[in-house]
Amino acid sequence: MLEGIVLGIDEMDAQHQMLLEIAEHFRCVSKGTEAEVQSHMASVLNALLDYATYHLAAEEEFLKAIDYPDFREHKILHHRLLSTLRKNCLLFREQCLSARQLSDFIEQWITQHILEEDAKYAAYLRNLRTEAKEGVHAGQRSPSESLA
Ligand SMILES: [Fe+2]
Ligand SMILES: [Fe+2]
Repeated sequence: MLEGIVLGIDEMDAQHQMLLEIAEHFRCVSKGTEAEVQSHMASVLNALLDYATYHLAAEEEFLKAIDYPDFREHKILHHRLLSTLRKNCLLFREQCLSARQLSDFIEQWITQHILEEDAKYAAYLRNLRTEAKEGVHAGQRSPSESLA
């Protein structure tokens, strides 16, 4: 499921993988009988909400640590994501949204954000690393140039 949405940042990829596994678990439960849905759904949803809250906060700490220039915008997107997720969970609990609809929303919510937004900080980090490497090489060249 994670195929194609790997950012190349181990910690974030592991957390995204965990989010997607919980979403997958949610989908499996949503396909069960009415009784199964009733008895398991609440705990899976709570696990998803808890882990999503944990991941978004951890990602924000990571973005601060790398001095990501679009940190504020990304944090606002996270805030919106969580409130939309909470709103849809509430709609589900009030039976205004089916388990299937909520499951579709959750999977789209996660993958779209990773592919469209998290991919931007991954690209920023790749550029930083490339620049750092080139800087090191340039630094290594200068002394030999000065000796020539
Ligand atoms: Fe993320
Ligand atoms: Fe994010």
